[in-house]
Amino acid sequence: MARRVQYTSNGDIDQLHLAEAATPEVGPGQVLVTVLYAGLNPLDWKMLQGGRFGTVEGSSGNGVDFSGVVASVGAGVEDFAPGDLVYGGLPKQAQTEQLLIEDPADRLDRIPRGLGIDTAGGLYITGRTAMSGIRALNLSEGETLFVSGASGGVGIIVAQLARNLGARVIGSASEGNHELLRSLGIEPVTYGQGLWASVRALAPNGIQAAYSTQGEDEVEAMIDAGVPAERIVSIGAGPAVAEKHGVSTAGESAARREDMVWLGQAIAYGHIHVPINRVFDVDEVQDAYRHLLNAHPAGKVLLRFPAKPLTDEQRAHLH
Ligand SMILES: NC(=O)c1ccc[n+]([C@@H]2O[C@H](COP(=O)([O-])OP(=O)(O)OC[C@H]3O[C@@H](n4cnc5c(N)ncnc54)[C@H](OP(=O)(O)O)[C@@H]3O)[C@@H](O)[C@H]2O)c1
Repeated sequence: MARRVQYTSNGDIDQLHLAEAATPEVGPGQVLVTVLYAGLNPLDWKMLQGGRFGTVEGSSGNGVDFSGVVASVGAGVEDFAPGDLVYGGLPKQAQTEQLLIEDPADRLDRIPRGLGIDTAGGLYITGRTAMSGIRALNLSEGETLFVSGASGGVGIIVAQLARNLGARVIGSASEGNHELLRSLGIEPVTYGQGLWASVRALAPNGIQAAYSTQGEDEVEAMIDAGVPAERIVSIGAGPAVAEKHGVSTAGESAARREDMVWLGQAIAYGHIHVPINRVFDVDEVQDAYRHLLNAHPAGKVLLRFPAKPLTDEQRAHLH
C-alpha cells in the first residue's frame, strides 16, 4: 500500500486528505516511481475547486510536479532503470508515494547531475511554462521586460531567463520579496496601486515586452503602457482575454519535450536560481496549500514523502 493525497468532493483545501492506495502493477513500457518530493502549484488548487477543470467522480489524486526514485520498470523500458533519480509531471496524480508513469517517454526525465532532487520536484509546471513564455517574448539584448509575479514559481524563472539573454528586467512582487529579486538581478516594484507609476519611473523610455501572470486588468495596463500586444504573454487571464487583446498565451502546453532537461541543467550550472521556500511533510498537506495561497512564498513550496526503510540490499552493505 502507498499513501496518496486525494479528495472526494471539489471544494476548498480542507477536502484534501491522505488515503491508502494499492501500489500499482507495472505493465509493459511503464515505470513505477517512488515519489520523494511533490511541488505545489496554484493549478492544483484550481483543479480541487472544480469549475472549468471538471467535477470529481469517486476520488481524485492531486498535484502535477514530482521527483523521486525509479522503483521498477516494465518490459521493454530501456531509458530508465530501478534506482534512477527522476523528475516529471502527471496531472492530478503526482502527490502519491508510488506513482505509475504510463508514458515515460513524454512525462519523465533523469535528474541532471547537480540539480537537487528537492528542486527537481517542483519544476515541471513552472519550468515548462517559463520556457515556452521566454520563446514567445522573443527578447533581444538590451530590451526592458516587465514580469508580473516575479517572485512566483513561473515569474522567477522567466525573469532570470530574460536576464540571462541580456534584457533588463523589472519585476513585481510584494515588499517582503524585493530583496530576493534584487539578489537575482531583477529590479523590484510593488504590485497594486502605483505599480505603473513605479515602472514608468524606472523605465521612462518605456518597456518593450511584458509577462503577465494576473487577470485582464493587468493585460490592459500593459497595452496602455505602450507594450505591443504581440510582445505580451499572458498565462493568468485565460484564452478568451488573450484572444480579445491579441496577446500570446504561450504556457505549459507549448513547451518542448527537451525543455525540462535544458532547464534542469541551467539550474545545476548556476544560470537560474529556483528558491525552495518551504518543505512540508505530506501529512501536513492542508497546511502546505494554505501556505502557498496565503503566505506570499517566494520560490517553491514542496511536499516531502519520507524515505522508505532501507532495502535488504542496502542493509547488507552495512555489515
Ligand atoms: N497558462 C499556463 O500554462 C499556466 C502555467 C503555470 C501557471 N499558470 C498560472 O499563472 C499564475 C502564476 O503561477 P505561479 O506558479 O507563478 O504562482 P505563484 O508561485 O503562486 O506566484 C504568484 C505570484 O503572483 C504575485 N501576486 C500575488 N497577488 C498579486 C496581485 N494581486 N498582483 C500581481 N501579482 C500578484 C505573487 O507575489 P508575492 O508572493 O510576492 O506577493 C507571486 O509573485 C497562476 O494563476 C497559475 O495558475 C498558468
